[in-house]
Amino acid sequence: MEKIVRPESMARITTPELANAFIEEQIKEVREQVGDKKVLLALSGGVDSSVVAALLIKAIGKQLVCVHVNHGLLRKGEPEQVVKVFRDEMDANLVYVDAVDRFLDKLAGVAAPEEKRKIIGAEFIRVFEEEARKQEGIEFLAQGTIYPDILESDGVKAHHNVGGLPEDLQFGLVEPVKLLFKDEVRVVGEALGLPHGMVYRQPFPGPGLGVRCLGAITRDRLEAVRESDAILREEFAKNGLEGKVWQYFTAIPDIKSVGVKDYKRTDAWPVIIRAVNTTDAMTATIEEVPYELLKHITNRITTEVEGVNRVLFDLTPKPSGTIEWE
Ligand code: XMP
Repeated sequence: MEKIVRPESMARITTPELANAFIEEQIKEVREQVGDKKVLLALSGGVDSSVVAALLIKAIGKQLVCVHVNHGLLRKGEPEQVVKVFRDEMDANLVYVDAVDRFLDKLAGVAAPEEKRKIIGAEFIRVFEEEARKQEGIEFLAQGTIYPDILESDGVKAHHNVGGLPEDLQFGLVEPVKLLFKDEVRVVGEALGLPHGMVYRQPFPGPGLGVRCLGAITRDRLEAVRESDAILREEFAKNGLEGKVWQYFTAIPDIKSVGVKDYKRTDAWPVIIRAVNTTDAMTATIEEVPYELLKHITNRITTEVEGVNRVLFDLTPKPSGTIEWE
């Protein structure tokens, strides 16, 4: 396989002007590559797939078929945002697949982290493959491969998120941002008119909230993870911590403890808050969050989120902890 190498002469895309020039060039290349054929894209709503979607919508319009699989493990408001931005505002050919029950039924009772990841990955490919088979005349698969994916795989590997499609579903690949670094993908995304929050969103694992709902996932505890995460994100945004803290989220272990509410004993979960800074995710330090804000978030989570009676703040750097709780 031919090695993919970014030419040394390629300027770093740091301004809207450079981004626009890149976009124009890619539009031409993509049109030449795909002609009047159809292209399929798994659109998760993450930075890379969203930028590829916006770019291809500009280049080939409805020849692009975006498939958004809602596996039930996304953050609050994310599937709705994908539909709003791509279908309503960009008029994309978007297939929205509600696969929530399918994923959660498959995951029921499975506690081992690697097993959960395997199920989520395999089920994702199955759902995507089913949708691919329903579409007529697809000849290309678009992927949000970026340059670090290529570097990590010694110049040959494609994006890791969609792979493993069966032999009879082999498509030509369209990877318009494969020579870009993440910061450049973001500049291009903004130039394409994507919402700032979508382009600058913090890293989010492929298996989503499934990682942060520790042990066997139940619908009620998953909902508590989603709601507490939404409160944390809202409060960090309101208090100027968004963009300052590299990654922040909540996790809920599969344990309950006694608490008290309205003079009655409760038996409920603790929510753990994680807020870290890092440059490469290999090591991480703890962000100091103002105590008053932590107390306010604690109050909101314990009053607004069903099934939660405590909030804990994780002070552990990486190492010895990992960033995620899993
Ligand atoms: P850990 O927990 O290993 O996480 O310290 C390091 C970084 O990787 C992210 N992460 C993932 N990202 N797919 C991804 O794209 C995944 O499956 C995945 N698992 C962990 C994690 O959020 C952190 O930023």
